[in-house]
Amino acid sequence: MAVTPARRKSPRRAQIEAAALYPLDWLEERSGLVGAIKYFLFRRVPRDTSWAQTLGSASLTAFLVQAITGVILAFYYKPDPDKAYESIQIITNDLTLGWLVRGMHRWGASVFIILMFLHMARVFLYGAYKYPRELNWIVGVLLLTLGMAEGFTGYLLPWDQTAYWATVVGININGTAPFLGPFIAQFLQGGAAIGSDTLSKFYSIHMLVLPGAIAGLIGLHLYLVIRLGVTSPPWSPTEAGRERAPEPPSTNGREGLIRPSGRGGSNGE
Ligand code: HEM
Repeated sequence: MAVTPARRKSPRRAQIEAAALYPLDWLEERSGLVGAIKYFLFRRVPRDTSWAQTLGSASLTAFLVQAITGVILAFYYKPDPDKAYESIQIITNDLTLGWLVRGMHRWGASVFIILMFLHMARVFLYGAYKYPRELNWIVGVLLLTLGMAEGFTGYLLPWDQTAYWATVVGININGTAPFLGPFIAQFLQGGAAIGSDTLSKFYSIHMLVLPGAIAGLIGLHLYLVIRLGVTSPPWSPTEAGRERAPEPPSTNGREGLIRPSGRGGSNGE
C-alpha cells in the first residue's frame, strides 16, 4: 500500500507553530495541566457507552449556566427588603436582555434539578452505584441535596408574596424535623420573623456558600469518574462476562488514574 510521505513544513510555518504552542508548552512544563485536560477529554470509554451517559455532563452544563447567569444577576440585584423586589423588576423590564438572563436562571434551576434526577436514575438503572463507586454515589447525593438547597434559598430572593410564603412554609417544615430541626429553622430565619436578616442570610448562602460547595464536590465527583472509569451498560457483553474487558490504557506515569480492578471498571475499550 502506498504511503503518502509527510509533507515537510517550511521553516516559517514551523516557527509560527512553535510560537503559537509556546504558551501551552510553558503551562504544561510548569503544571502538567495541559496533559491532565487532554487525558480528561480524550480518555477511553466503553464501546457501548450511550446517550444516557451524557446526563452527567448535561447536569454540569446546567450548573455552569446557573453560575454565569447568577453572576450577571448579582451585578444588579439588591438584597434589601426595601429594594429587592424593585431591583428584580428593573432587571426584568429595563435592562438589556435582563428578562432573558433572569428567565434562564429561573427556569435553569428546574432544568438543573431535573437533569440531576435523570442522571441519578441512569446511574441507578446501570447499577453504577455499586463497588467501587459507592463514594461517588454519596458525593452525588450531597450534590443533589445542595442543588435543592440552592433552589430553596434562591426562591426567597425576588421578595414577592410567593417567595415570602414559600419560605415561611419551607422554614416551618425544617422546624418540625427532630433534634436539629428547630435550630436550623431559627438559624435560617435569623430572628423572630422573616425579614432583612433572613434575606441577607439566604442571599449569602445562595451566592457564596452553596455554589462554592457544589463546585468543590463536582471537582471531586469528576476526579472519581476519571479514576474509576465509566460503567458499561448492564446489557453489554463485557458486563455479562461474555467478553474480556481489555487492559486499561497506559497512564504515562499518572498511576492514580489507573482504574482499580472490580465490577464495571471499563476505562478503555
Ligand atoms: C451537579 C450534579 C452532577 C454532576 C455535574 C455530575 C456529573 C457527572 C459526570 C460528568 C459523570 C460521568 C458521565 C456520566 O456518567 O454521565 C458522572 C458519573 C456519575 N455520577 Fe454524577 N453528576 C452529578 C450528580 C450526581 C448525582 C445526584 C448522583 C447520584 C446520587 C451521581 C452519581 C454518579 C455516579 C455513581 C457516577 C459514575 C457512573 C458510572 O461510572 O457510570 N451524580 N457524574
